[in-house]
Amino acid sequence: MREAMKRVLITEPIIKDVINFLKKYYQVDVTPRGRFHTEDDVLDIIGDYDAILTMLSVPVTEKVLKAGKNLKIIANHAVGYNNIDVKAATKLGIKVANTPDVLTEASADGTFALILAAARRLCEAQDFLRANKFDGWDPLGFLGMELNGKNLGILGMGRIGRAVARRANGFGLNILYHNRHRVEDVIEDELGAHYMDSVEELAKNSDILSLNCPMTKETYHIINRKILDLMPESSILINTSRGPVIDEAALADALHSGNIGGAGIDVFEEEPKVHPGLLTAPNCILVPHIASATRETRYAMGMLAAKAIHGILSGKGYDDIPNLIN
Ligand code: DGY
Repeated sequence: MREAMKRVLITEPIIKDVINFLKKYYQVDVTPRGRFHTEDDVLDIIGDYDAILTMLSVPVTEKVLKAGKNLKIIANHAVGYNNIDVKAATKLGIKVANTPDVLTEASADGTFALILAAARRLCEAQDFLRANKFDGWDPLGFLGMELNGKNLGILGMGRIGRAVARRANGFGLNILYHNRHRVEDVIEDELGAHYMDSVEELAKNSDILSLNCPMTKETYHIINRKILDLMPESSILINTSRGPVIDEAALADALHSGNIGGAGIDVFEEEPKVHPGLLTAPNCILVPHIASATRETRYAMGMLAAKAIHGILSGKGYDDIPNLIN
């Protein structure tokens, strides 16, 4: 008897070539956009699959993993994997993969786009023009922050933090950073980056503070009222990491009261919800989690996740799958 084809679930439509790659080997189901937001949504379906290619919004809890009777691998279509209980997966012998490296440059570009847009008030200026208010060049119109010579603080000097720092050098920014572990001297030298002992020190000294750290127990609300109070009044906060790294209510207050000068926010505490105070805050640029959203990168992310699935389901050695987390 012929062995039944293994089954793979992709929880959102992704780039077609990636789906077609998996279809060469497996029976692939792609569920429509936005189907899985709660544990129950996933519980209903997980039992049927050998592998699941998840988005970062899919809660892969211990209960879900236990219900995945045939599950061999979860490949997250993201570098961050805070939606997956990796400890439980490991206990159950289920592999977890993510998509590191391939999104580093796009995410750093996305971060920099927000830095420039917030520093130069591009969204406010565009709204003004579209509202037909442009009445000629104004020597006082939309004055923003010049980047050259300012301090860019980077919280999280991993791959993306470093790529942001490399771009910052070209704009004449001084680079300060804080990270769980201080990076090696050669990297500090190459990036011209100065280590700050604490988040407090980093906040106090940054004209622009960019959050590029992963979401962990330690980084939950690491940017809170106390830290926002330490930031200079004209400073700008940028977040392309994970929403819960910031206490959004505190950020909304800081922006409304003029405690900080602006923000560029790509990720939110309870996506897809956005704190109402942020929606009305001045000089706050809000975009829908798109820092890595380039065609090239989304293809590469998809293929990396798909190849990890193929690697596991076809019985390749783990060494051939560079992006396994456990
Ligand atoms: C990730 O990969 O973790 C991003 O947030 C989406 O690119």
